[in-house]
Amino acid sequence: MKGIIEPHGGRLIKRILDKSSREKVLNDDDMLRVYIDDDLASDVENIADGIFSPLEGFMGYDDLIHVLREGRLADGLPWTIPILLDVDHDTAARMKDAKDVLLVGKKSSAMALMHVEDHYRYDKMEIARRVYQTDDRSHPGVAKTLAMNDYFVHGKITLVSRANNTNNNNTNNDEDKYGLRRYRLTPEESRAIIAEKGWRSVVGFQTRNIPHLAHEMLQKSVLNFFDALFVNPLIGRKKSGDFKDEVILRAYEVLIENYYPKERVLFATLHTEMRYAGPKEAIHHAIMRKNLGCTHFIVGRDHAGVGSFYHPFAAQEIFKEYPDLGIEPVFFPAFFYCKRCMGIVSERMCPHPLDYRLELSGTRLRKMINEGERPSELLMRPEVVDVIMQHKDPFVP
Ligand code: ADX
Repeated sequence: MKGIIEPHGGRLIKRILDKSSREKVLNDDDMLRVYIDDDLASDVENIADGIFSPLEGFMGYDDLIHVLREGRLADGLPWTIPILLDVDHDTAARMKDAKDVLLVGKKSSAMALMHVEDHYRYDKMEIARRVYQTDDRSHPGVAKTLAMNDYFVHGKITLVSRANNTNNNNTNNDEDKYGLRRYRLTPEESRAIIAEKGWRSVVGFQTRNIPHLAHEMLQKSVLNFFDALFVNPLIGRKKSGDFKDEVILRAYEVLIENYYPKERVLFATLHTEMRYAGPKEAIHHAIMRKNLGCTHFIVGRDHAGVGSFYHPFAAQEIFKEYPDLGIEPVFFPAFFYCKRCMGIVSERMCPHPLDYRLELSGTRLRKMINEGERPSELLMRPEVVDVIMQHKDPFVP
């Protein structure tokens, strides 16, 4: 597409089975079926749609070792998060023998064909340490990594059908129940919109949170300097205590409806798990937005952080190691409300003592709501507060 930023690695990956091959695969009862969970199902779709370009499948040993040690794929391209299919020993052996395997989602729907190349083991603690920079098991990413199966299977995938393509009306699934996929865009779709609008600069905004006024400040500031803002909340597994996806989605609907210049804002969701890997995840977040067609990417305070595992600006520092990333970061300092300035400001803008500050963070707002306190209009739009307050239980259990 002319004028649009190049995908990561230069080519947008699209691995979707054509209709006639799909019929053949679905009717092949002899093919080995391997069941995958929702997180892996999202990875499969993201590989197939090119959100993870240039990946064409689950990583092999060579790529993994380079990602962990150098933050790059074996060919040198920036990449910081391992994308792995983990299975037990027996399944790994059967997959290797079978070669062509059908990956099946939770709703028993065939999702993807996998062309197995190899399987291998790798020290899971080493993976956790390299990605999350800690071996503390209270870190949700470390805990998840250590709970993985012992074998990793390497191979390309081709999508057979999508996660939402179900015949059994399973309304227990949140994605179906709350229509969480209604704002999902593939890179092909988002790139077509950007091309059609003629935007030359598009700034991506990652979030896993309900929007507060510091988020809004970050997002709206860039509208002064760039053509468009791409608000792109992450939908998928999050840690206990984070806001639920359906609340975040509804909150953004009312926010954009009431306060955003719609002709210069694109809103879509990104379906993948939150990993809480701080700096390494910031690079991964930027790469996915590059594939979706963004030229720039916002990184503020404690991006993708959890607890106090990362320095608040470590996720900005890491970009120095990636001059070849191909998407430009837009850095922001920490924003807060100052009672003297009477607005959302940063240290760079505000001369007043700390006593005048109201801190603005998801953690602080969650605490207020949990204690039954209605967040003030100085911190959050009343329409957004209403969305939260109307929800019986807005937090991930
Ligand atoms: S994140 O895990 O997705 O990074 P969150 O949704 O809270 O969490 O943040 C989205 C983006 O806004 C991140 O780039 C983050 O650094 C930034 N951000 C959030 N709160 C603030 C704040 N008070 N000041 C500056 N940046 C912020």
